[in-house]
Amino acid sequence: MVGIGVIGYGYWGPNIVRNCLALPDARVVAICDKNPSALRRAEGLNHGVRLLSDARELLSAKDIDAVAVVSPVWTHFDLAKAALEQGKHVFVEKPFTRTAAEAEQLIEIAEKRNLKIMVDHTFLFTGAVQKIRQLIDEGVLGSLYYYDSMRVNLGLFQHDVNVVWDLAPHDLSILDYLIQKNPEALIATGEKHLNGLEDVAFITIYFPDNAIAHVNVNWLSPVKVRTTLIGGEKKMLVWNDLEADEKIKVYDKGVQMSNGQGVYDLLVSYRSGDMWAPKINQCEALRTELAGFVDCITKGEAPFNDGVAGLRVVRMLEAAETSLKGKGKVVHL
Ligand SMILES: NC(=O)c1ccc[n+]([C@@H]2O[C@H](COP(=O)([O-])OP(=O)(O)OC[C@H]3O[C@@H](n4cnc5c(N)ncnc54)[C@H](O)[C@@H]3O)[C@@H](O)[C@H]2O)c1
Repeated sequence: MVGIGVIGYGYWGPNIVRNCLALPDARVVAICDKNPSALRRAEGLNHGVRLLSDARELLSAKDIDAVAVVSPVWTHFDLAKAALEQGKHVFVEKPFTRTAAEAEQLIEIAEKRNLKIMVDHTFLFTGAVQKIRQLIDEGVLGSLYYYDSMRVNLGLFQHDVNVVWDLAPHDLSILDYLIQKNPEALIATGEKHLNGLEDVAFITIYFPDNAIAHVNVNWLSPVKVRTTLIGGEKKMLVWNDLEADEKIKVYDKGVQMSNGQGVYDLLVSYRSGDMWAPKINQCEALRTELAGFVDCITKGEAPFNDGVAGLRVVRMLEAAETSLKGKGKVVHL
């Protein structure tokens, strides 16, 4: 049994705890939150879970093997570092850290001590992203032309990070997982309207082989939209994450061009075939992810969403921050 301690029981922490409680090979030993009212919400859990207000007590507990850091972004580094230094494996919320230098430091400590880091890139464990990755790996979509995502709603405004650091880690981790190539350059534009932090932003990312991504993140949208278009040479798809059943629709549509006899004689042919909605796994992503974390600990394996994957996302976020400050300046990665 892997003993787990969870730090942070605000909005996301209860989801981590609920899923850990359901894992056969793990035990939630303690929950820590410095806010007494957050801790009170955990009182009804009744699984022998210790409720603590000081993270130091949790971090030094002998019966805890792994710590989930589910507190605000600015606390991730200090808490994860302290946990690693106490010999605990860590599951850290997205975004991994505030800077690439911090992420590198955590990776180094974990390597030296032979400990696991998993960064919560929840979407990678959804049936939808797993299916899209399969469609790419099997060559169904052909080479990728673009990824265009709209992730907007009337925000849960964060106090410590802007909309880029809050919402874009989802798309950036998905892109990292689907494209599997380092981006070449990034441009971000955005604006602050209410609390001194950007609440609307548009990020464009250039990948090798002419693949381009656009991510629209917005806390000031009147409606919630979670729609991504992915265009490939052979097929195109629409992923609407708010759809209950048919989240992904694959279209056999495309354009082919060839030159006719004269130089200006361009032949354009359009293909418009069937559309189908592939069956996707409906299991809760966080459950699969946390089960994978426990598995990696017990089997000594490395998770694919490890600290290095978290660092790649933080590097893109840092580039976006630099570009935002320069009003869309191109940042080469
Ligand atoms: N993976 C996802 O889809 C997803 C979704 C939402 C949030 N998150 C991430 O989860 C993290 C937490 O977000 P949230 O929305 O739950 O925030 P929140 O503000 O609702 O909750 C954070 C909690 O941490 C507690 N806390 C802060 N510092 C602490 C410390 N030193 N010791 C103990 N407790 C401490 C606070 O009192 C608060 O209750 C963030 O990193 C966020 O990006 C991830």
